[in-house]
Amino acid sequence: MSDANEKIYYITTPIYYVNDVPHIGHAYTTIAADVVARYQRLLGKQVFFLTGTDEHGLKIEKTANAKGLSAKELVDEVVERFIHLWQVLNISHDDFIRTSEERHHRAVHAFFKMVKEQGSIYLGHYEDWYCVPCETFWTEKQLDNENCPECGRPAEKVKEESYFFAMSAFQERLLDYLQEHDDFVMPKSKLNEVLGFLREDLRDLSISRSSFNWGIPVPDDQRHVIYVWFDALINYLTAAGFPDDMERFKRLWPADIHLIGKDILRFHAVYWPTFLFAADLPLPRQVFAHGWWTVEGEKMSKSVGNVVDPEVIVEEYGVDAFRYFLLREVPFGADGDFSKASIKGRVNSELANDLGNLLSRTVAMVKKYRQAVIPAADVENAHYLEFATLNNEVRLEVAKAMADLTFHKVLAAIWRLVEKCNQFIDEQAPWALAKDESRAHDLDQVLYCVLESLRLLSLYLTPVMPEKTVQMALQLGQAEPTAASGPEVFTWGRLKTGGEVVKGESLFPRLD
Ligand code: MSP
Repeated sequence: MSDANEKIYYITTPIYYVNDVPHIGHAYTTIAADVVARYQRLLGKQVFFLTGTDEHGLKIEKTANAKGLSAKELVDEVVERFIHLWQVLNISHDDFIRTSEERHHRAVHAFFKMVKEQGSIYLGHYEDWYCVPCETFWTEKQLDNENCPECGRPAEKVKEESYFFAMSAFQERLLDYLQEHDDFVMPKSKLNEVLGFLREDLRDLSISRSSFNWGIPVPDDQRHVIYVWFDALINYLTAAGFPDDMERFKRLWPADIHLIGKDILRFHAVYWPTFLFAADLPLPRQVFAHGWWTVEGEKMSKSVGNVVDPEVIVEEYGVDAFRYFLLREVPFGADGDFSKASIKGRVNSELANDLGNLLSRTVAMVKKYRQAVIPAADVENAHYLEFATLNNEVRLEVAKAMADLTFHKVLAAIWRLVEKCNQFIDEQAPWALAKDESRAHDLDQVLYCVLESLRLLSLYLTPVMPEKTVQMALQLGQAEPTAASGPEVFTWGRLKTGGEVVKGESLFPRLD
Protein backbone atom coordinates (compact mmCIF):
# COMPACT_ATOMS: atom_id res chain seq x y z
CA MET A 1 0.00 0.00 0.00
CA SER A 2 1.28 3.44 -0.74
CA ASP A 3 1.52 5.91 2.05
CA ALA A 4 -0.63 9.01 1.92
CA ASN A 5 2.40 11.26 2.33
CA GLU A 6 4.54 9.56 -0.26
CA LYS A 7 5.79 11.68 -3.15
CA ILE A 8 3.66 10.98 -6.17
CA TYR A 9 5.52 10.26 -9.39
CA TYR A 10 4.66 13.25 -11.55
CA ILE A 11 5.17 13.20 -15.31
CA THR A 12 4.08 15.75 -17.88
CA THR A 13 3.85 16.28 -21.61
CA PRO A 14 3.93 19.74 -23.16
CA ILE A 15 0.53 21.34 -23.41
CA TYR A 16 -0.26 21.42 -27.09
CA TYR A 17 -1.27 24.46 -29.08
CA VAL A 18 -4.83 24.20 -30.27
CA ASN A 19 -4.31 26.27 -33.37
CA ASP A 20 -3.43 23.08 -35.14
CA VAL A 21 -4.82 19.58 -35.21
CA PRO A 22 -2.81 16.84 -33.52
CA HIS A 23 -0.14 15.03 -35.50
CA ILE A 24 2.45 12.33 -35.00
CA GLY A 25 4.77 14.70 -33.10
CA HIS A 26 2.15 15.32 -30.43
CA ALA A 27 1.30 11.63 -30.32
CA TYR A 28 4.96 10.75 -29.81
CA THR A 29 5.54 12.72 -26.61
CA THR A 30 2.22 11.67 -25.18
CA ILE A 31 2.74 7.97 -25.92
CA ALA A 32 6.22 8.08 -24.40
CA ALA A 33 4.85 9.70 -21.26
CA ASP A 34 2.06 7.15 -21.16
CA VAL A 35 4.55 4.29 -21.29
CA VAL A 36 6.49 5.69 -18.35
CA ALA A 37 3.31 6.34 -16.37
CA ARG A 38 2.02 2.82 -16.98
CA TYR A 39 5.37 1.28 -16.10
CA GLN A 40 5.58 3.20 -12.82
CA ARG A 41 2.03 2.19 -11.91
CA LEU A 42 2.89 -1.42 -12.64
CA LEU A 43 5.72 -1.13 -10.13
CA GLY A 44 3.15 0.00 -7.58
CA LYS A 45 3.98 3.70 -7.63
CA GLN A 46 1.36 6.38 -7.33
CA VAL A 47 1.49 8.32 -10.55
CA PHE A 48 0.14 11.63 -11.74
CA PHE A 49 0.34 11.92 -15.49
CA LEU A 50 -0.58 15.27 -16.95
CA THR A 51 -1.26 16.43 -20.47
CA GLY A 52 -3.37 19.24 -21.85
CA THR A 53 -3.65 22.19 -24.19
CA ASP A 54 -2.13 25.64 -24.52
CA GLU A 55 -5.03 27.80 -25.59
CA HIS A 56 -4.10 31.48 -25.41
CA GLY A 57 -2.33 33.87 -27.73
CA LEU A 58 -2.53 36.12 -30.71
CA LYS A 59 -2.43 33.30 -33.21
CA ILE A 60 -5.53 31.68 -31.75
CA GLU A 61 -7.30 35.01 -31.61
CA LYS A 62 -6.45 35.58 -35.28
CA THR A 63 -7.44 32.09 -36.41
CA ALA A 64 -10.73 32.41 -34.54
CA ASN A 65 -11.42 35.82 -36.11
CA ALA A 66 -10.72 34.45 -39.55
CA LYS A 67 -13.23 31.67 -38.95
CA GLY A 68 -15.83 34.03 -37.51
CA LEU A 69 -15.59 32.35 -34.11
CA SER A 70 -14.70 33.64 -30.69
CA ALA A 71 -11.36 32.42 -29.38
CA LYS A 72 -13.13 30.33 -26.78
CA GLU A 73 -15.36 28.72 -29.41
CA LEU A 74 -12.32 27.86 -31.49
CA VAL A 75 -10.38 26.29 -28.64
CA ASP A 76 -13.41 24.36 -27.44
CA GLU A 77 -13.71 22.89 -30.89
CA VAL A 78 -10.08 21.95 -31.43
CA VAL A 79 -9.49 20.60 -27.94
CA GLU A 80 -11.91 17.79 -28.76
CA ARG A 81 -9.50 16.53 -31.39
CA PHE A 82 -6.82 16.10 -28.76
CA ILE A 83 -9.15 14.52 -26.22
CA HIS A 84 -10.37 12.10 -28.85
CA LEU A 85 -6.89 11.20 -30.05
CA TRP A 86 -5.77 10.38 -26.52
CA GLN A 87 -8.69 7.98 -26.22
CA VAL A 88 -7.80 6.34 -29.50
CA LEU A 89 -4.16 6.02 -28.43
CA ASN A 90 -5.08 4.59 -25.02
CA ILE A 91 -3.43 7.40 -23.12
CA SER A 92 -3.87 6.95 -19.38
CA HIS A 93 -3.44 10.56 -18.23
CA ASP A 94 -4.79 11.46 -14.81
CA ASP A 95 -5.59 15.03 -15.69
CA PHE A 96 -6.05 17.14 -18.78
CA ILE A 97 -5.33 20.79 -18.27
CA ARG A 98 -6.54 23.62 -20.47
CA THR A 99 -5.00 27.02 -19.94
CA SER A 100 -8.41 28.63 -20.44
CA GLU A 101 -9.66 27.01 -17.24
CA GLU A 102 -10.39 29.01 -14.09
CA ARG A 103 -8.00 27.00 -11.95
CA HIS A 104 -5.18 27.93 -14.28
CA HIS A 105 -6.18 31.55 -14.23
CA ARG A 106 -5.90 31.48 -10.44
CA ALA A 107 -2.54 29.76 -10.55
CA VAL A 108 -1.04 32.22 -13.04
CA HIS A 109 -2.26 35.11 -10.93
CA ALA A 110 -0.86 33.67 -7.73
CA PHE A 111 2.45 32.92 -9.43
CA PHE A 112 2.67 36.35 -11.05
CA LYS A 113 2.04 38.01 -7.70
CA MET A 114 4.66 35.91 -5.93
CA VAL A 115 7.28 36.80 -8.50
CA LYS A 116 6.25 40.47 -8.53
CA GLU A 117 6.41 40.74 -4.76
CA GLN A 118 9.82 39.19 -4.85
CA GLY A 119 10.84 42.08 -7.11
CA SER A 120 11.41 40.21 -10.37
CA ILE A 121 8.65 41.78 -12.46
CA TYR A 122 8.69 45.38 -13.71
CA LEU A 123 6.90 47.50 -16.29
CA GLY A 124 8.88 48.68 -19.32
CA HIS A 125 8.82 48.85 -23.11
CA TYR A 126 10.02 46.39 -25.58
CA GLU A 127 10.87 46.76 -29.19
CA ASP A 128 11.33 43.64 -31.10
CA TRP A 129 10.67 41.60 -34.15
CA TYR A 130 7.77 39.25 -34.07
CA CYS A 131 6.83 36.33 -36.26
CA VAL A 132 3.07 35.93 -36.08
CA PRO A 133 2.80 32.34 -37.39
CA CYS A 134 5.51 31.11 -35.00
CA GLU A 135 4.39 33.38 -32.14
CA THR A 136 8.01 34.08 -31.48
CA PHE A 137 9.96 37.24 -30.83
CA TRP A 138 13.38 37.64 -32.35
CA THR A 139 16.15 40.11 -31.85
CA GLU A 140 17.34 41.96 -34.90
CA LYS A 141 20.50 39.85 -34.85
CA GLN A 142 18.58 36.60 -35.02
CA LEU A 143 16.59 37.61 -38.11
CA ASP A 144 17.40 36.32 -41.49
CA ASN A 145 17.06 39.41 -43.72
CA GLU A 146 14.10 40.62 -41.72
CA ASN A 147 12.58 37.16 -41.99
CA CYS A 148 11.86 34.73 -39.20
CA PRO A 149 14.88 32.42 -38.83
CA GLU A 150 12.54 29.51 -38.14
CA CYS A 151 9.89 29.67 -40.86
CA GLY A 152 11.44 32.21 -43.24
CA ARG A 153 8.36 34.41 -43.34
CA PRO A 154 8.62 38.17 -42.82
CA ALA A 155 8.81 39.35 -39.20
CA GLU A 156 7.08 42.54 -37.98
CA LYS A 157 8.74 45.27 -35.90
CA VAL A 158 6.80 46.05 -32.74
CA LYS A 159 7.08 48.43 -29.76
CA GLU A 160 4.79 48.12 -26.79
CA GLU A 161 4.53 48.69 -23.10
CA SER A 162 5.12 45.38 -21.42
CA TYR A 163 5.77 43.74 -18.11
CA PHE A 164 9.16 42.13 -17.90
CA PHE A 165 10.50 39.24 -15.93
CA ALA A 166 14.04 39.95 -14.70
CA MET A 167 15.45 36.75 -16.13
CA SER A 168 18.96 38.14 -16.47
CA ALA A 169 19.30 38.20 -12.69
CA PHE A 170 19.15 34.41 -12.56
CA GLN A 171 21.76 33.53 -15.16
CA GLU A 172 24.56 32.74 -12.73
CA ARG A 173 22.32 30.77 -10.44
CA LEU A 174 21.04 28.69 -13.32
CA LEU A 175 24.55 27.98 -14.57
CA ASP A 176 25.58 26.79 -11.12
CA TYR A 177 22.48 24.68 -10.88
CA LEU A 178 23.11 23.00 -14.22
CA GLN A 179 26.67 22.27 -13.28
CA GLU A 180 25.59 20.66 -10.04
CA HIS A 181 22.70 18.72 -11.57
CA ASP A 182 24.07 17.20 -14.71
CA ASP A 183 20.99 15.04 -15.23
CA PHE A 184 18.56 17.93 -15.08
CA VAL A 185 18.64 18.16 -18.86
CA MET A 186 18.58 14.90 -20.78
CA PRO A 187 19.85 13.46 -23.04
CA LYS A 188 23.34 14.63 -22.09
CA SER A 189 23.96 16.18 -25.49
CA LYS A 190 21.10 18.58 -24.86
CA LEU A 191 22.75 19.89 -21.72
CA ASN A 192 25.51 21.34 -23.88
CA GLU A 193 22.92 23.05 -25.98
CA VAL A 194 21.43 24.66 -22.88
CA LEU A 195 24.85 25.71 -21.63
CA GLY A 196 25.33 27.20 -25.09
CA PHE A 197 22.24 29.39 -24.64
CA LEU A 198 23.73 30.58 -21.38
CA ARG A 199 27.04 31.59 -22.92
CA GLU A 200 25.19 34.62 -24.24
CA ASP A 201 23.72 37.06 -21.76
CA LEU A 202 20.16 36.26 -20.83
CA ARG A 203 17.81 39.10 -21.65
CA ASP A 204 14.91 40.05 -19.43
CA LEU A 205 11.75 38.53 -20.78
CA SER A 206 8.70 40.37 -21.95
CA ILE A 207 5.79 38.58 -20.30
CA SER A 208 2.74 40.62 -21.21
CA ARG A 209 0.97 42.06 -24.26
CA SER A 210 -1.48 44.87 -24.67
CA SER A 211 -2.00 44.26 -28.38
CA PHE A 212 -4.50 41.43 -28.08
CA ASN A 213 -7.01 40.16 -25.54
CA TRP A 214 -7.11 36.40 -25.62
CA GLY A 215 -5.13 35.57 -22.50
CA ILE A 216 -5.05 35.89 -18.74
CA PRO A 217 -5.13 39.55 -17.66
CA VAL A 218 -2.17 40.81 -15.64
CA PRO A 219 -3.25 41.11 -11.99
CA ASP A 220 -4.29 44.69 -11.29
CA ASP A 221 -3.68 45.82 -14.85
CA GLN A 222 -6.44 44.82 -17.24
CA ARG A 223 -4.71 46.49 -20.19
CA HIS A 224 -2.30 43.60 -20.45
CA VAL A 225 -2.62 39.87 -20.88
CA ILE A 226 0.11 37.52 -19.73
CA TYR A 227 2.18 36.34 -22.62
CA VAL A 228 2.79 32.75 -23.70
CA TRP A 229 5.46 31.08 -21.62
CA PHE A 230 4.63 32.89 -18.40
CA ASP A 231 1.16 31.46 -18.84
CA ALA A 232 1.85 28.06 -20.41
CA LEU A 233 4.63 26.77 -18.15
CA ILE A 234 2.61 27.45 -15.02
CA ASN A 235 0.21 24.68 -16.11
CA TYR A 236 2.55 22.19 -14.46
CA LEU A 237 1.90 23.88 -11.12
CA THR A 238 -1.82 24.41 -11.64
CA ALA A 239 -2.55 20.75 -12.20
CA ALA A 240 -0.55 19.84 -9.10
CA GLY A 241 -2.90 21.92 -6.97
CA PHE A 242 -1.17 25.30 -6.89
CA PRO A 243 -2.40 27.51 -5.25
CA ASP A 244 -5.76 25.94 -4.31
CA ASP A 245 -4.54 22.82 -2.55
CA MET A 246 -1.03 23.26 -1.27
CA GLU A 247 -1.12 19.97 0.67
CA ARG A 248 -1.60 18.08 -2.55
CA PHE A 249 0.92 20.32 -4.28
CA LYS A 250 3.58 19.24 -1.78
CA ARG A 251 3.06 15.60 -2.69
CA LEU A 252 3.35 16.29 -6.39
CA TRP A 253 5.85 19.06 -6.84
CA PRO A 254 8.58 19.01 -8.05
CA ALA A 255 7.60 17.10 -11.16
CA ASP A 256 9.76 14.06 -11.74
CA ILE A 257 9.97 14.65 -15.43
CA HIS A 258 8.86 17.04 -18.13
CA LEU A 259 8.90 15.29 -21.49
CA ILE A 260 9.22 17.75 -24.35
CA GLY A 261 10.39 18.02 -27.95
CA LYS A 262 13.79 19.52 -28.67
CA ASP A 263 12.35 22.76 -30.06
CA ILE A 264 11.01 23.84 -26.68
CA LEU A 265 14.09 23.00 -24.67
CA ARG A 266 15.10 26.62 -24.08
CA PHE A 267 11.74 27.40 -22.52
CA HIS A 268 11.84 24.41 -20.20
CA ALA A 269 15.50 24.42 -19.29
CA VAL A 270 16.19 28.16 -19.14
CA TYR A 271 12.98 30.16 -18.72
CA TRP A 272 11.17 27.72 -16.45
CA PRO A 273 13.96 27.25 -13.89
CA THR A 274 14.44 31.00 -13.63
CA PHE A 275 10.70 31.54 -13.07
CA LEU A 276 10.80 28.94 -10.34
CA PHE A 277 13.90 30.46 -8.76
CA ALA A 278 12.07 33.78 -8.61
CA ALA A 279 9.02 32.18 -7.00
CA ASP A 280 11.23 30.25 -4.62
CA LEU A 281 9.86 26.88 -5.74
CA PRO A 282 11.90 23.74 -6.38
CA LEU A 283 12.85 22.87 -9.96
CA PRO A 284 11.51 19.80 -11.73
CA ARG A 285 13.88 16.87 -11.39
CA GLN A 286 14.40 16.41 -15.10
CA VAL A 287 13.61 17.84 -18.51
CA PHE A 288 13.96 15.30 -21.30
CA ALA A 289 13.99 16.57 -24.89
CA HIS A 290 13.21 14.09 -27.64
CA GLY A 291 13.94 14.43 -31.34
CA TRP A 292 11.71 15.20 -34.27
CA TRP A 293 10.06 12.96 -36.81
CA THR A 294 10.25 13.46 -40.51
CA VAL A 295 7.80 11.64 -42.76
CA GLU A 296 9.06 9.49 -45.61
CA GLY A 297 12.30 11.46 -45.41
CA GLU A 298 10.69 14.89 -45.49
CA LYS A 299 9.98 17.55 -42.90
CA MET A 300 6.33 17.42 -41.95
CA SER A 301 4.49 20.51 -43.08
CA LYS A 302 1.00 21.62 -43.90
CA SER A 303 2.12 23.14 -47.19
CA VAL A 304 3.73 19.89 -48.33
CA GLY A 305 0.57 18.17 -47.14
CA ASN A 306 2.43 15.31 -45.48
CA VAL A 307 1.27 15.85 -41.90
CA VAL A 308 0.60 12.43 -40.42
CA ASP A 309 -2.73 12.09 -38.67
CA PRO A 310 -2.17 9.49 -35.96
CA GLU A 311 -5.77 8.31 -36.21
CA VAL A 312 -5.25 7.32 -39.83
CA ILE A 313 -2.16 5.30 -38.91
CA VAL A 314 -4.04 3.61 -36.10
CA GLU A 315 -6.80 2.64 -38.54
CA GLU A 316 -4.27 1.03 -40.80
CA TYR A 317 -1.83 -0.60 -38.36
CA GLY A 318 -3.57 -0.72 -35.00
CA VAL A 319 -2.85 1.33 -31.94
CA ASP A 320 -0.35 -1.00 -30.30
CA ALA A 321 1.70 -1.43 -33.45
CA PHE A 322 1.86 2.36 -33.78
CA ARG A 323 2.94 2.80 -30.17
CA TYR A 324 5.50 0.02 -30.50
CA PHE A 325 6.91 1.42 -33.70
CA LEU A 326 7.41 4.94 -32.39
CA LEU A 327 9.37 3.73 -29.41
CA ARG A 328 11.32 0.95 -31.14
CA GLU A 329 12.33 2.77 -34.29
CA VAL A 330 14.54 5.56 -32.88
CA PRO A 331 16.46 6.12 -29.68
CA PHE A 332 14.46 8.59 -27.61
CA GLY A 333 16.29 11.86 -28.00
CA ALA A 334 17.36 11.31 -31.61
CA ASP A 335 15.47 12.34 -34.73
CA GLY A 336 13.65 9.70 -36.72
CA ASP A 337 11.83 9.04 -39.92
CA PHE A 338 8.32 7.70 -40.10
CA SER A 339 7.67 5.57 -43.16
CA LYS A 340 5.03 3.04 -44.02
CA ALA A 341 7.69 0.60 -45.15
CA SER A 342 9.44 0.67 -41.79
CA ILE A 343 6.31 0.32 -39.70
CA LYS A 344 5.16 -2.55 -41.88
CA GLY A 345 8.57 -4.19 -41.64
CA ARG A 346 8.55 -4.08 -37.86
CA VAL A 347 4.97 -5.28 -37.60
CA ASN A 348 5.64 -8.27 -39.79
CA SER A 349 8.97 -9.33 -38.40
CA GLU A 350 8.93 -8.33 -34.75
CA LEU A 351 5.27 -8.31 -33.84
CA ALA A 352 3.72 -10.92 -36.11
CA ASN A 353 6.65 -13.31 -36.55
CA ASP A 354 8.55 -13.10 -33.29
CA LEU A 355 5.88 -12.32 -30.73
CA GLY A 356 2.51 -13.21 -32.25
CA ASN A 357 3.70 -16.58 -33.55
CA LEU A 358 5.34 -17.40 -30.27
CA LEU A 359 2.04 -16.98 -28.49
CA SER A 360 -0.05 -18.85 -31.04
CA ARG A 361 2.31 -21.80 -31.41
CA THR A 362 2.62 -22.10 -27.63
CA VAL A 363 -1.11 -22.03 -27.04
CA ALA A 364 -1.58 -24.55 -29.85
CA MET A 365 0.98 -26.94 -28.31
CA VAL A 366 -0.54 -26.74 -24.85
CA LYS A 367 -3.91 -27.53 -26.35
CA LYS A 368 -2.61 -30.36 -28.42
CA TYR A 369 -0.28 -32.03 -25.95
CA ARG A 370 -1.86 -31.11 -22.59
CA GLN A 371 -5.58 -30.65 -23.36
CA ALA A 372 -5.01 -26.92 -22.81
CA VAL A 373 -4.03 -27.40 -19.14
CA ILE A 374 -1.14 -25.25 -17.92
CA PRO A 375 1.46 -27.59 -16.40
CA ALA A 376 3.00 -27.06 -12.96
CA ALA A 377 6.63 -26.01 -12.54
CA ASP A 378 9.50 -28.08 -11.28
CA VAL A 379 11.48 -25.34 -9.56
CA GLU A 380 14.67 -27.38 -9.65
CA ASN A 381 14.53 -28.01 -13.35
CA ALA A 382 17.57 -26.64 -15.21
CA HIS A 383 15.48 -24.81 -17.80
CA TYR A 384 13.37 -23.24 -15.08
CA LEU A 385 16.52 -21.91 -13.40
CA GLU A 386 18.06 -20.75 -16.65
CA PHE A 387 14.94 -18.80 -17.57
CA ALA A 388 14.70 -17.34 -14.06
CA THR A 389 18.22 -15.96 -14.49
CA LEU A 390 17.51 -14.57 -17.93
CA ASN A 391 14.32 -12.94 -16.68
CA ASN A 392 16.23 -11.32 -13.90
CA GLU A 393 18.67 -9.81 -16.36
CA VAL A 394 15.81 -8.61 -18.53
CA ARG A 395 14.01 -7.06 -15.56
CA LEU A 396 17.13 -5.10 -14.59
CA GLU A 397 17.83 -4.00 -18.15
CA VAL A 398 14.26 -2.84 -18.54
CA ALA A 399 14.43 -0.92 -15.26
CA LYS A 400 17.66 0.77 -16.25
CA ALA A 401 16.47 1.65 -19.74
CA MET A 402 13.13 2.93 -18.41
CA ALA A 403 14.96 5.15 -15.93
CA ASP A 404 17.06 6.52 -18.81
CA LEU A 405 14.03 6.73 -21.12
CA THR A 406 15.87 4.68 -23.71
CA PHE A 407 12.73 2.95 -24.91
CA HIS A 408 14.42 1.19 -27.81
CA LYS A 409 16.64 -0.50 -25.24
CA VAL A 410 13.65 -1.41 -23.11
CA LEU A 411 12.20 -3.21 -26.11
CA ALA A 412 15.51 -4.76 -27.10
CA ALA A 413 15.87 -6.17 -23.57
CA ILE A 414 12.33 -7.58 -23.69
CA TRP A 415 13.07 -9.12 -27.07
CA ARG A 416 15.88 -11.15 -25.52
CA LEU A 417 13.13 -13.13 -23.85
CA VAL A 418 11.07 -13.40 -27.04
CA GLU A 419 14.05 -14.64 -29.01
CA LYS A 420 15.14 -17.03 -26.30
CA CYS A 421 11.68 -18.64 -26.28
CA ASN A 422 11.55 -19.08 -30.02
CA GLN A 423 15.01 -20.59 -30.05
CA PHE A 424 14.21 -22.79 -27.06
CA ILE A 425 11.11 -24.23 -28.72
CA ASP A 426 13.08 -25.03 -31.87
CA GLU A 427 15.83 -26.71 -29.84
CA GLN A 428 13.60 -28.64 -27.47
CA ALA A 429 11.16 -29.69 -30.19
CA PRO A 430 8.09 -30.27 -28.02
CA TRP A 431 6.49 -32.17 -30.92
CA ALA A 432 9.19 -34.80 -30.55
CA LEU A 433 8.96 -34.88 -26.75
CA ALA A 434 5.21 -35.40 -27.05
CA LYS A 435 5.76 -38.66 -28.90
CA ASP A 436 7.73 -40.15 -26.03
CA GLU A 437 5.75 -40.93 -22.83
CA SER A 438 8.95 -41.09 -20.76
CA ARG A 439 9.65 -37.43 -21.59
CA ALA A 440 6.31 -36.14 -20.25
CA HIS A 441 7.95 -34.28 -17.40
CA ASP A 442 10.43 -32.63 -19.77
CA LEU A 443 7.62 -31.57 -22.05
CA ASP A 444 5.77 -30.05 -19.09
CA GLN A 445 8.84 -28.04 -18.16
CA VAL A 446 9.46 -26.79 -21.67
CA LEU A 447 5.85 -25.67 -21.94
CA TYR A 448 5.94 -24.14 -18.49
CA CYS A 449 9.03 -22.06 -19.26
CA VAL A 450 7.57 -20.67 -22.44
CA LEU A 451 4.18 -19.99 -20.90
CA GLU A 452 5.75 -18.24 -17.94
CA SER A 453 7.94 -16.20 -20.28
CA LEU A 454 4.88 -15.20 -22.25
CA ARG A 455 3.09 -14.18 -19.07
CA LEU A 456 6.05 -12.00 -18.15
CA LEU A 457 6.17 -10.64 -21.69
CA SER A 458 2.57 -9.57 -21.37
CA LEU A 459 3.59 -7.64 -18.25
CA TYR A 460 6.79 -6.11 -19.61
CA LEU A 461 4.98 -5.05 -22.75
CA THR A 462 1.81 -3.75 -21.19
CA PRO A 463 3.06 -0.16 -20.88
CA VAL A 464 3.85 -0.10 -24.60
CA MET A 465 1.00 -2.27 -25.89
CA PRO A 466 -1.84 -2.05 -23.40
CA GLU A 467 -4.40 -3.73 -25.65
CA LYS A 468 -2.55 -6.66 -27.14
CA THR A 469 -1.04 -7.63 -23.82
CA VAL A 470 -4.50 -8.09 -22.36
CA GLN A 471 -5.28 -10.48 -25.21
CA MET A 472 -2.01 -12.28 -24.51
CA ALA A 473 -2.80 -12.72 -20.83
CA LEU A 474 -6.29 -14.00 -21.58
CA GLN A 475 -5.03 -16.56 -24.08
CA LEU A 476 -2.56 -17.68 -21.43
CA GLY A 477 -5.39 -18.17 -18.92
CA GLN A 478 -3.96 -15.41 -16.70
CA ALA A 479 -5.36 -12.28 -15.08
CA GLU A 480 -5.03 -9.07 -17.08
CA PRO A 481 -1.53 -7.66 -16.77
CA THR A 482 -2.68 -4.44 -15.13
CA ALA A 483 -4.25 -6.48 -12.32
CA ALA A 484 -0.74 -7.10 -11.03
CA SER A 485 1.25 -4.31 -9.50
CA GLY A 486 3.99 -3.85 -6.98
CA PRO A 487 7.76 -4.03 -6.85
CA GLU A 488 7.76 -7.82 -7.33
CA VAL A 489 5.64 -7.76 -10.43
CA PHE A 490 8.32 -9.08 -12.78
CA THR A 491 9.34 -12.05 -10.65
CA TRP A 492 9.79 -15.37 -12.43
CA GLY A 493 7.64 -18.34 -11.41
CA ARG A 494 4.24 -16.82 -10.73
CA LEU A 495 2.36 -18.37 -13.61
CA LYS A 496 -1.07 -19.52 -12.51
CA THR A 497 -1.00 -23.25 -13.30
CA GLY A 498 -3.76 -25.82 -13.53
CA GLY A 499 -5.99 -23.46 -15.53
CA GLU A 500 -6.38 -23.57 -19.27
CA VAL A 501 -5.00 -21.68 -22.21
CA VAL A 502 -7.55 -20.29 -24.61
CA LYS A 503 -7.00 -20.09 -28.31
CA GLY A 504 -7.69 -16.56 -29.52
CA GLU A 505 -7.24 -14.37 -32.51
CA SER A 506 -3.81 -13.88 -33.94
CA LEU A 507 -2.18 -10.99 -32.04
CA PHE A 508 -0.65 -9.28 -35.05
CA PRO A 509 -1.90 -10.49 -38.41
CA ARG A 510 0.75 -10.13 -41.11
CA LEU A 511 0.42 -7.06 -43.30
CA ASP A 512 0.68 -7.50 -47.06
N1 MSP B 1 2.39 24.98 -26.47
C1 MSP B 1 3.77 24.72 -26.57
C2 MSP B 1 4.28 23.93 -25.40
C3 MSP B 1 4.02 24.53 -24.06
S1 MSP B 1 4.56 23.52 -22.77
C4 MSP B 1 4.39 24.42 -21.38
C5 MSP B 1 4.07 23.96 -27.86
N2 MSP B 1 3.05 23.33 -28.43
S2 MSP B 1 3.11 22.54 -29.83
O1 MSP B 1 1.81 22.01 -30.01
O2 MSP B 1 3.59 23.38 -30.85
O3 MSP B 1 4.17 21.44 -29.75
C6 MSP B 1 4.13 20.47 -28.79
C7 MSP B 1 5.17 19.41 -28.94
O4 MSP B 1 5.07 18.72 -30.19
C8 MSP B 1 6.59 19.91 -28.82
O5 MSP B 1 7.22 19.16 -27.80
C9 MSP B 1 7.20 19.59 -30.15
O6 MSP B 1 8.52 19.23 -30.03
C10 MSP B 1 6.38 18.41 -30.61
N3 MSP B 1 6.48 18.24 -32.04
C11 MSP B 1 5.98 19.04 -33.02
N4 MSP B 1 6.37 18.52 -34.22
C12 MSP B 1 7.12 17.41 -34.05
C13 MSP B 1 7.71 16.45 -34.89
N5 MSP B 1 7.68 16.55 -36.21
N6 MSP B 1 8.30 15.38 -34.30
C14 MSP B 1 8.30 15.20 -32.94
N7 MSP B 1 7.77 16.09 -32.12
C15 MSP B 1 7.27 17.27 -32.63
O7 MSP B 1 5.20 23.95 -28.28
